[in-house]
Amino acid sequence: MSDASPPSTGPDAEGPTLRAEGLTVGYGGAPVVQDVTIRARPGQLTAIVGPNGAGKSTLLKGIAGVLRCSSGRTLLGSDDVTNLSSERLIRLGISYVPQVSNVFPSLTVRENLEMGAYIVRTHIKERIDELCTMFPDLKSSVHRPARTLSGGQRMMLALARGLMVHPKVLLLDEPTAGLAPMVVDLVWEHVLAIRASGPAVLVVEQNTRRSLRDADWGYVLTNGKNNLEGPGPELLADKDLVRLYIGG
Ligand SMILES: Nc1ncnc2c1ncn2[C@@H]1O[C@H](COP(=O)(O)OP(=O)(O)OP(=O)(O)O)[C@@H](O)[C@H]1O
Ligand SMILES: [Mg+2]
Repeated sequence: MSDASPPSTGPDAEGPTLRAEGLTVGYGGAPVVQDVTIRARPGQLTAIVGPNGAGKSTLLKGIAGVLRCSSGRTLLGSDDVTNLSSERLIRLGISYVPQVSNVFPSLTVRENLEMGAYIVRTHIKERIDELCTMFPDLKSSVHRPARTLSGGQRMMLALARGLMVHPKVLLLDEPTAGLAPMVVDLVWEHVLAIRASGPAVLVVEQNTRRSLRDADWGYVLTNGKNNLEGPGPELLADKDLVRLYIGG
């Protein structure tokens, strides 16, 4: 197992690195996530895996400003962004796509996309056009209420909403959960295409094999703490890790 830090993406990579350093996050009682340190580099896919209840979603919420971190800090490049409001974080380029409630069901696809850009206010039409090209499934549905979309289309809308602000960092909580296998492939291809477009993509995925296979760097979280880390395929090659936390 490699214990080096995530590789740099080289001179072509643009944008800041997201660093969570010693984050402790919880819901009021004993902390769920304790002293966790991760790094997500631009142009890379960083995966967080671990058993149910390990604290993966809680960690993302702490980074996204949904939950307050009681200690540690989050840095975007050299800026300390710890415990800023979700709105401030979006303005700074950290976009969060939660696992549930990630679209407004009664609003149309277009209205959802417009809401995603509420802090931008300029070039909204152009950005929606770009995203409809990137997600052709949305193009034919722009005037439909989100509640009439399939599960896969809804997730694509959630991804597109998250991209409206041209984020530097995209936080994705289980983007393929509950989707049919063919749709999972499609959504995952979009996640990989988003990585290729430049932002740091930090993903929590139920499909551990797939996420580690494609991850530039992976973190295994257990009981709310850092356990192992390394290049995704290297983690996947660790038989003990697979037996304990992935199965099969
Ligand atoms: N709203 C909440 N209030 C109190 N405790 C919570 C809340 N949400 C989650 N927890 C607890 O925090 C712990 C970690 O939950 P979390 O959802 O972060 O895990 P996870 O790794 O994302 O799990 P999963 O793989 O099932 O999504 C669990 O013990 C859970 O019961
Ligand atoms: Mg979760």
